Amino acid sequence: MKTQTIDINTKLIKPQILHFRKIDSTNHYLLENDLANGTVAVADFQSAGRGRLQRKWEASERDGLLFSLLINENLDQFHPASFSFLSAIAVYEALRNLYYQLPLALKWPNDVICDGKKICGILVESRSTGAGLTKVVIGMGININQDQIFFNREGLTHGTSLKLATGQEVDPIYLLESVLESLEEALLFAKDEAISIILNKWKSYCPYIGKHIKLIENEKEHSGIFEDLDHEGGIILNQKGQMNTYYAADVSIDKDYL
Ligand code: BTN
Repeated sequence: MKTQTIDINTKLIKPQILHFRKIDSTNHYLLENDLANGTVAVADFQSAGRGRLQRKWEASERDGLLFSLLINENLDQFHPASFSFLSAIAVYEALRNLYYQLPLALKWPNDVICDGKKICGILVESRSTGAGLTKVVIGMGININQDQIFFNREGLTHGTSLKLATGQEVDPIYLLESVLESLEEALLFAKDEAISIILNKWKSYCPYIGKHIKLIENEKEHSGIFEDLDHEGGIILNQKGQMNTYYAADVSIDKDYL
């Protein structure tokens, strides 16, 4: 591991990042070690990258921007559900500012989608005591320089990369700087803010509301109209007039309904 200083204009997030050539998981590293608030860990390769719903997160060496941010101060100023949504907002806004022509969207709860395919996955993990959250780690995997061959080989038919979407190679450090600045802005926006304000912003970037979607929860499929989010960020599905809320599921957008 080496410490590398990056060029960011932030107060909370530290510009001295921890850069690993290879690590099991940057989320795991920040959760298990005693490090300062605002520490960022970046990896060229993860041997045990973690995804949502206990899945693995695969990325070939150097083609993905893989990093995590540790927050362990002033956590009582945030609604616990806000981290997942504010992180997706941050990536969406950073990518929109860098590549204004990209057809970006957010998919519940925190996937960033480009032209219908996943370009970034986010895993928020936390530690808490009875008194509340003590540590939050926001981990992001942004697909940057993968070619189509990678997605075909890994069976990731719903994945894409910035290189595929823009036709250009992406400099990971430049992108990291932009995303971290955007993340700090989103954290400052969400601090002391009602969760409804954060969810409203998230919803403004989600084109699937009011559309017919499919949800998979514990291998069970539910379909219906994506009606709204509840105040904890759960997804409210209108299933033949009955409103049901889901918290741990995967959404797939039925292209026939778009
Ligand atoms: C998802 O399932 O969509 C979330 C994927 C999150 C992957 C990132 S890569 C950096 C960080 N470290 C991990 O082990 N996971 C997250």
